[in-house]
Amino acid sequence: MLSDFLVSVKKVSKEYAFGKQKVQALREVSLAVLGGEFLAIAGPSGSGKSTLLNLIGCIDTPTTGSISIENQETVNQTPDQLADLRARKIGFIFQTFNLLPVLSAFENVEYPLLRLKLDKTERHQRVSQYLELVGVNEFATHRPNQLSGGQRQRVAIARALIAQPSIVLADEPTANLDHRTGEGILDLMSRINRDNGTTFIFSTHDARVIEMAGRVVRLSDGEIVQ
Ligand SMILES: Nc1ncnc2c1ncn2[C@@H]1O[C@H](COP(=O)(O)OP(=O)(O)OP(=O)(O)O)[C@@H](O)[C@H]1O
Ligand SMILES: [Mg+2]
Repeated sequence: MLSDFLVSVKKVSKEYAFGKQKVQALREVSLAVLGGEFLAIAGPSGSGKSTLLNLIGCIDTPTTGSISIENQETVNQTPDQLADLRARKIGFIFQTFNLLPVLSAFENVEYPLLRLKLDKTERHQRVSQYLELVGVNEFATHRPNQLSGGQRQRVAIARALIAQPSIVLADEPTANLDHRTGEGILDLMSRINRDNGTTFIFSTHDARVIEMAGRVVRLSDGEIVQ
C-alpha cells in the first residue's frame, strides 16, 4: 500500500549477538516520518538511537520488521541495490565528522557526486554552491586537520546534502562540539530544512538540541516511550 510517508518503520526489532549474549537494541519500534520533518531521536546512552538511524540509513538490517523509504521496501534488497538507494536518497552526518583526511574540504564534498553522472563544470559549480551554503567556501583547499570542529561539521553537512538526498540522518551531530558551535550547526541544519524542505532525522541527548526539533521521538531501552 502506498503512503505519504517518506520513511516508514514497522515493528522493527534489532538483536545483536555479543559472544554468547544477546542484546536487544530495538524492540518492535514503529515510526512514520513525513517529508520536510525536523525530527529528533532522543534517549539515554544505549537506548538504541544509533541502531535506529543505521537501520533507516540502510547501513544495517533489522532482525525483524520492515523499513521503507519513499514506499520502497528496503529489507529484501541486495547490497548493491541498497548502496544505490543510499547514494541517491540518503545523506549522513556523523558525530566524529568522518571526513577523508587526505582530501581537501572541496574534494570531500565532491566525493559523493563522483558516482553520479555530472560533467566536471557542473560538479564543481555544485560543490562551490554547497560550500557557500554552509559557510566554508574560503576553506575549500584546507584538509580536515586544518579546520576547526565546527568547520569540519559544516563540510560534512555539505557532503551530506550535495547529492540532494530526500533525507539526512545525523547521529549526534553536535556531541563533539562546544555548546555555541553545536548551536550554530543545529541552526544551519534547521535553516536548510526550512529553506529547501530537506528532511532531517538527528539523534541527541542534549536537551538544548532537543528543543530545536520540530518533533521528538524518545527511546528508552529499545522502545519508543513518547
Ligand atoms: N555491534 C553491536 N554489537 C553488540 N551490541 C551492540 C552493537 N551496537 C550496539 N549494541 C548495543 O545495542 C544497544 C543500543 O546501542 P546504540 O548504539 O543504538 O545506543 P545509543 O542510544 O546510540 O547510545 P549512545 O547515546 O551512547 O550513542 C546498546 O546496549 C549497545 O551496547
Ligand atoms: Mg549512539
